[in-house]
Amino acid sequence: MSRFQHPDDVNAPTWWKETFVYQIYPRSFQDSNGDGVGDLNGITMRLDDLQALGVETIWLSPFYRSPNDDNGYDISDYTDIDPQFGTMADFDRMLAGMKERGIKLVIDMVFNHSSDEHPWFQQARQSRESLFHDFYIWREGSPDQPPNNWPSIFGGSAWEWNAPTGEWYLHLFTRKQPDLNWANPRVREAIYESMRFWLDKGVGGLRFDVLAMFAKNPSYADIDLSKGGAALVDMFDAPQLHAYVQEMHREVLSKYDIYTVGEAPVDAITALDMIAPGRRELQTIYHFEHMLLDRGSLQITQATALDRRAFKSVLTRWAEQLEGKAWNTIYVGNHDQVRPVSRFGDDKTHRVASAKMLATLLFTHKGIPFFLAGEEIGMTNYPFATLDELDDVNARNMARLMLSQGKSEDEVFAAISSITRDHGRTPFQWDATPNAGFSSAERTWLPVNPNYTHINAAADRANGDSIWHYFQRAIALRKHTPALIYGRFTDLDPAHPAIYAYRRDHTTGSYLIMLNLLGAPVDYPLLDTFPNKTRILGNYADDGPLRPFEARVFRVES
Ligand code: NOJ
Repeated sequence: MSRFQHPDDVNAPTWWKETFVYQIYPRSFQDSNGDGVGDLNGITMRLDDLQALGVETIWLSPFYRSPNDDNGYDISDYTDIDPQFGTMADFDRMLAGMKERGIKLVIDMVFNHSSDEHPWFQQARQSRESLFHDFYIWREGSPDQPPNNWPSIFGGSAWEWNAPTGEWYLHLFTRKQPDLNWANPRVREAIYESMRFWLDKGVGGLRFDVLAMFAKNPSYADIDLSKGGAALVDMFDAPQLHAYVQEMHREVLSKYDIYTVGEAPVDAITALDMIAPGRRELQTIYHFEHMLLDRGSLQITQATALDRRAFKSVLTRWAEQLEGKAWNTIYVGNHDQVRPVSRFGDDKTHRVASAKMLATLLFTHKGIPFFLAGEEIGMTNYPFATLDELDDVNARNMARLMLSQGKSEDEVFAAISSITRDHGRTPFQWDATPNAGFSSAERTWLPVNPNYTHINAAADRANGDSIWHYFQRAIALRKHTPALIYGRFTDLDPAHPAIYAYRRDHTTGSYLIMLNLLGAPVDYPLLDTFPNKTRILGNYADDGPLRPFEARVFRVES
């Protein structure tokens, strides 16, 4: 067992269990050079603001060299900085600024696929004899018949014809994102080398993009598309994935005191095989179960109404199934999702209350809270009006596909604008100056939400009752309350359709949390069954029925 990574006692105190993760999408955070795109120097400029909030760990989405077909999740050089984000010297300065402030940096490892502009693929696609040909996944066949029916997550077939070699290559995302062949040990060694490059610079953690997809089902058989999203797992080979991740742990992860998290749309029982300490794989999984409830599939569909009881039951199940066995994560938004306050709250009448309620959920549930820059000021979805305004490659591909299937423009816009990832990617709203203080450019890469004149960080910091101050309080409360980190989680009322009531119990104390997940008041007698309680956090001033999106946190004596 390495000294780092994961003590066998799941509840042993470890820095990464006590932290929370603030996600920065670099294009959208702060532009320092006036080109309309956020950059690394912009992040460095804002470190004091982050420290004031209480940030101790940052997950930075990709900043590596990339043609930006999928905004950096298509990498053409794993150990270089994309010029639009800055230089390696800028990166080093940013990392040093973080270290000075005691902030750890978690970086994104995108190794399911590279860019088609990566030199490996450029060579691989020229000839079957290339030394790099076997870095990717190829199948022979005729140019008009893909090797199987595997779909790309972003729409259409997962196979693209490559004329120079007379073969198909696999791409589970866009055709500019060819899948790397993890079965080739030279590929894995090259990946480990890239990881060591960043770890040796002192990064504090790694987030593995679409980890669950690294190992493909060796049969390459058709999958049953009538099963919808559930069919996708049949494209993968779980036992083989474990072998890869264990090797990666042995070769790289175990040698550094870092935090590791793998993105995987799995259930909690499946996750345990990757994150139980004895497995020597990863520390945590970032799952999708609660995020798929009103979506249905990893692929773009129309958003549907969310059943709060189902939502609670997913979060409760993860807490219960991982209890004493592995560590959890919890989030309600990221750069692939719409803004949480517009989805799980109410971005009109109850924007402030609902954003605070979601913060309470993140910081009192069991697991490492993750949130995307902007959640701490309650940033909302953007009022897109036409398909042309969208930037997200997934949204654009899906729109093209749906239009080609004969759907009307209105129908396609209604579906796609309800869930496009662009909502979560509009520039951060710093203040009420032009472009919200994000950039001095005439045009920013995505438009700034016009509500920046009243929704912005400066306004929130000036108002002690704001969402920003509430996040700051919730962050400090969790940091200083071991029960909210390590305490056992118990759902007190799983059947209630609106109220999420739970306890956190630990040798250092017990806490009761009541969240109204909906916008109507609820008379909630269960509250009165805890006579000896002291209120320590909440988003409304006094007691009585639980108001719309009300959150109350109490310390309890029994
Ligand atoms: C998950 C990332 O979060 C998303 O932004 C990206 O498009 C896909 N993986 C493909 O890398």
